[in-house]
Amino acid sequence: MNSKDRLEHLQKLRAEARLGGGQVRIDKQHAKGCMTARERIDLLLDPGTFEEFDMFKTHRCRDFGMDKQVYPGDGVVTGHGQVDGRTVYVFAQDFTVLGGSLSETFAEKICKIMDLAMKNGAPVIGLNDSGGARIQEGIESLAGYSEIFQRNVMASGVVPQISAIFGPCAGGAVYSPALTDFVIMVQKQSYMFLTGPKVVKSVTHEDVNEETLGGAAMHASRSGVVDYPATSGADAVDYIRRLLSFLPQNNMVDPPVVASADPGHRRTPALNGIIPENPNAPYDMKEVILQTVDSHDFFEVKQNFAPNLIVGFARYDGTSVGIVANQPSHLSGVLDIDSSVKGARFVRFCDCFNIPVVTFVDVPGFLPGTAQEYGGVIRNGAKILYAFAEATVPKVTVITRKAYGGAYCVMSSKHLRGDINYAWPTAEIAVMGAKGAVGVLYGREAAKQEDPAAFLAQKEKEYQETVANPYVAAQRGYIDDIIDPADTRVRIVRALSLLRHKRDTNPMKKHGNIPL
Ligand code: HXC
Repeated sequence: MNSKDRLEHLQKLRAEARLGGGQVRIDKQHAKGCMTARERIDLLLDPGTFEEFDMFKTHRCRDFGMDKQVYPGDGVVTGHGQVDGRTVYVFAQDFTVLGGSLSETFAEKICKIMDLAMKNGAPVIGLNDSGGARIQEGIESLAGYSEIFQRNVMASGVVPQISAIFGPCAGGAVYSPALTDFVIMVQKQSYMFLTGPKVVKSVTHEDVNEETLGGAAMHASRSGVVDYPATSGADAVDYIRRLLSFLPQNNMVDPPVVASADPGHRRTPALNGIIPENPNAPYDMKEVILQTVDSHDFFEVKQNFAPNLIVGFARYDGTSVGIVANQPSHLSGVLDIDSSVKGARFVRFCDCFNIPVVTFVDVPGFLPGTAQEYGGVIRNGAKILYAFAEATVPKVTVITRKAYGGAYCVMSSKHLRGDINYAWPTAEIAVMGAKGAVGVLYGREAAKQEDPAAFLAQKEKEYQETVANPYVAAQRGYIDDIIDPADTRVRIVRALSLLRHKRDTNPMKKHGNIPL
């Protein structure tokens, strides 16, 4: 062969590899309304930036007729490219090749790009669509999964890891996505479970279909495994691109700063009317967030799970921040098991990746009851406390209304190394609400009165005026300033600018022991 022939031969081999499991299976994938692995990568990356590795790698299995089923690339497309001009490493499982099932060599390809991502400090994005362990390979496939798990754990907190699930994801295979920082699933096309409906039926006699057992809607609202239930494959890819725009490349650098068209000195007068006269009436904390962040642009994470706590990313004067906020319009913004776990994981992510945390507080306390106590609200509530306390990133807190009891302590208070803590004049900072407090303090005395109800109402009023306000906390210095709600954006922007070069550390240790 002369050099021209050799080049043509290479191009022919590449074209074959690009066909994966063949045109028939590609058509089948399209008929299901799904993209192929390569189409997903093309949509994710900036045009022309994808460089593929190991396109010619093949499996080594010779059992079960596998010597006749050899596909170049072996069912996973791997390499690197750019998203908005920044490098990412990517793998996409190709369902057209043996159902995207994972072989030893398939795993080696994924491990290679994970190792490179760690060495070069860039995010890893996994696009999953796989029937799980390649049955013909058995233990070698399990070994491959384990090698990936180990790398997921080593990469945790070093480079951002994002998983999207476009098709089946079952058995132990779910644990690689579960170890990553964010999981996106496509509604009605993907599922994740440890054991499928047939095994469930034989063990627990439950009748359940794939969607109910492990569909996107369930995982986004009940299990909390999923951060975003995408409406389509393209929507999933869009979400990843947007998410990446808030994140740094790795734990050694700061998140990107973008030029903001929204002036940092913009006032927020609409917030003056947001707190209802009735202290128990709800309002939408998302409105507070939207009013204060750059261009009213808030990127919410885990929107459908534990909506009594809002978490997500936004920018102030171009700087990425993580936002944590109680939501008074859902369960009065109470902290419970799910919201504590949701908040803890989010704060820890931000802390890993140098993303400041802005916290909006309106919380009546922790949710009482046997369901919560039996479910371990002590252990789980401790997680969010632990996360705020260990975080060394800049922490700015705004108490809009209630900050009661343990929930006051937990929500990025001064005592947990909150850097700048503001309160609105409507804040009520106390050990408990007026009704509860007066009942404990004056219950017996009230019983002796001619009109116990009027007596208690008077005491409640006194308590509200003397204790349940921001001034007691401000007198102690637990609140740095009581601010006009119309200045909320201005003050947050200024605080974050002040904290830009903050340095804080925790004692040297192997790792802490967060209550899991
Ligand atoms: C080898 C597989 C495969 C697998 C699918 N295929 N899964 N080949 N190993 N795990 C092949 C099929 O034989 C078929 O080949 C092609 O992929 C497409 O599969 P279909 O069944 O035709 O597709 P569909 O009807 O869409 O069903 C998809 C599926 C089903 C639900 C994923 O294939 C399935 O149930 N597969 C087995 C899933 C499983 O039990 N995996 C092991 C889980 S345990 P042809 O040549 O006919 O096109 C596990 C442990 C991991 O993963 C542990 C990690 C610690």
